[in-house]
Parts: sequence; structure tokens; C-alpha cells
Amino acid sequence: MGMIYYSCMKKGLLSISDLSGKEIESVIEQAVVMKRGDRTGLLSGKVLALLFEKPSLRTRVSFEVAMHQLGGHVVYLSQEEVGLGKRESVCDVARVLSRYVDCIAARTFSYETLDILAQCSSVPVINALSDLEHPCQALSDLLTIYEKKGELAGLTLAFIGDGNNVANSLLLAASLTGMNFSFASPLGYGISDEMSNRGREFAALSGSRIRLTNDPFEAVAEADIVYTDVWTSMGQESEGEKRRIAFSGYQVNDRLLSLAKEDALFMHPLPAHRGEEIADGLLENSHSVVFDQAENRLHLQKVLLTKLLLPADSGDK
Ligand code: CP
Ligand code: NVA
Repeated sequence: MGMIYYSCMKKGLLSISDLSGKEIESVIEQAVVMKRGDRTGLLSGKVLALLFEKPSLRTRVSFEVAMHQLGGHVVYLSQEEVGLGKRESVCDVARVLSRYVDCIAARTFSYETLDILAQCSSVPVINALSDLEHPCQALSDLLTIYEKKGELAGLTLAFIGDGNNVANSLLLAASLTGMNFSFASPLGYGISDEMSNRGREFAALSGSRIRLTNDPFEAVAEADIVYTDVWTSMGQESEGEKRRIAFSGYQVNDRLLSLAKEDALFMHPLPAHRGEEIADGLLENSHSVVFDQAENRLHLQKVLLTKLLLPADSGDK
């Protein structure tokens, strides 16, 4: 079981697979240190733009507080203000922002928008969630798992639910770091072939296993982590009723959790919908680490920001 080298985070972070397994491990180790230490002033004078087409609590606040605590500043820009792709072309927005700020974290409906932002920007662009991936979430989730379990490689993460942005990033993150990934969804809501093939390529190199099934009971057997996310992601609201019906047998509840390992963690990126993807009371279950996950967004993003905004030898000591 080994970490694999793949690429590196020079221009930003659009996909979790912009990092190698080794780099993910290094980011996590630095986040453990960041969480303990006082790094006030590290990003003094630096400015981050948050360009968000969709709502957010955790991502926005953790980036804002991270910059504030490191001595930098944030400019928050909603879609109503900027009119990304409507008032002004996506590329022009990136070119203009690059003249003012040191980094752009963007939350977009389409991955394509992020890609254009990154291509046109001369400063790093971070994916703060798009339809395809949520890499900042996956990185802080791996930090949480590492803190609780003391390792990553060899553990099994079972994801029950939709083959969405969070599932995609976790699949790639797990297969890059030697974790097994077990996934169950209803027919028609699985992880795309393209994404699962990428995961399988990484898994072949790191020695991990990927299991894709429609049976949630099969997926959680022997799991060290049981993970779920909303059935209806932002932008899919018109499919809400159809999805509630399709996913009705895929709720994570005490019974399903009891089929995983005795010391399994329960994880969810939040926001959560009680009575849909989780039973009432699950967030408060002794296995739940969801609020540690939320807190770790702050520590992990501090590391990302220092890696992207400071010269290579000054931010990650
Ligand atoms: N988990 C997460 O990204 O939450 P927000 O949508 O509130 O940022
Ligand atoms: N899959 C969810 C994640 C929210 C953090 C969404 O995209 O809405």
C-alpha cells in the first residue's frame, strides 16, 4: 500500500487529483500542525476573492476566518453582484480579479466555469465546490479521518447516496491515498464511468479497492467510515421529489450504521436533511464526527492558502 505521485498544486486546486497521494498526506500533516500553532500574520497583505454562484455556510466562513486569522483579507462576491457569464464574461472576470487579488476561491454550478476562471486567471483558483467535485471538503474529511484513526491507507470509506461532487472527490482522494472506497446508490444515480475509471487508475497504483454497488448493506460491511451527503444537491431542486422516492432505501440510520465496524465513524459534509439521507438523531450519535469535519475546513484551508499564496519554502514549515 503506498502513496502515489501524480501532479502538483501550482496553479490552484480544481480537482483533488491535482494533488498526489503524497501531497495530500503532506497537506494533512501540515493541517495537524496548523491546528495547534499560532500562524498570525503569515498572509499579511494578501487578498482572497470568494466568487460564489451558490449559497454556503461552512466554505465561505472557513475561508473568511482562515484569511482573517492569518492576517489577510477577503472580498466576497455573489453572483447577484458580479453576474458571472451574464454581466461580464467568465474570462474577463478572472482577468480583472487577477489584477486586484492574490487568489480566487470560486463556487460554481458548472465545472467548466471554474476551468475558464483558472485558464484566464494569473492567480491561483480554488474549487470551492462545483457540480463535479468538492476538493476542499474531501481534504478536510481526510484530515478528520486521520485525526480519529491515525492512518488513511487500508481504511474503508463507504459512501451511501448520490454519485455527486462530494462522492467524486472522496473517491479520488481515497484511491490516491490507499483507502478503499465502497459506494452504494440507486440505479441511475451512481458515479460516472469517467470518474470511476480515474479512481480505478489511482487505486491500481496505491493498492486500494473500489466497490460500486446498489446495495447499501453490502457497501457498509466492514466499513471504517460511513459517509453520506444530500440526495438533492444545489441546482437540482426541481428533481427533489423524484430523488426522495429513488433514494428512499438509502437513508443512513442506526440499523445501517450498526452493520459497519463497531468503531466506525459517521460523516456528512453538511448541510444535512433529517428524515431524508439521515435519520433524526444521527448527527448526535456517538459515532458522528460531523462537527469536527466542519471545524477542520478552517484548519485545512489555512494550509491550502499558505501553500498557494506564499513562496514554496516559506509557508509549509
Ligand atoms: N460542506 C459545505 O461545503 O458546506 P457549505 O455549502 O455550507 O459551504
Ligand atoms: N452535494 C452537495 C454538497 C454541499 C456541501 C451540493 O452540491 O449541494
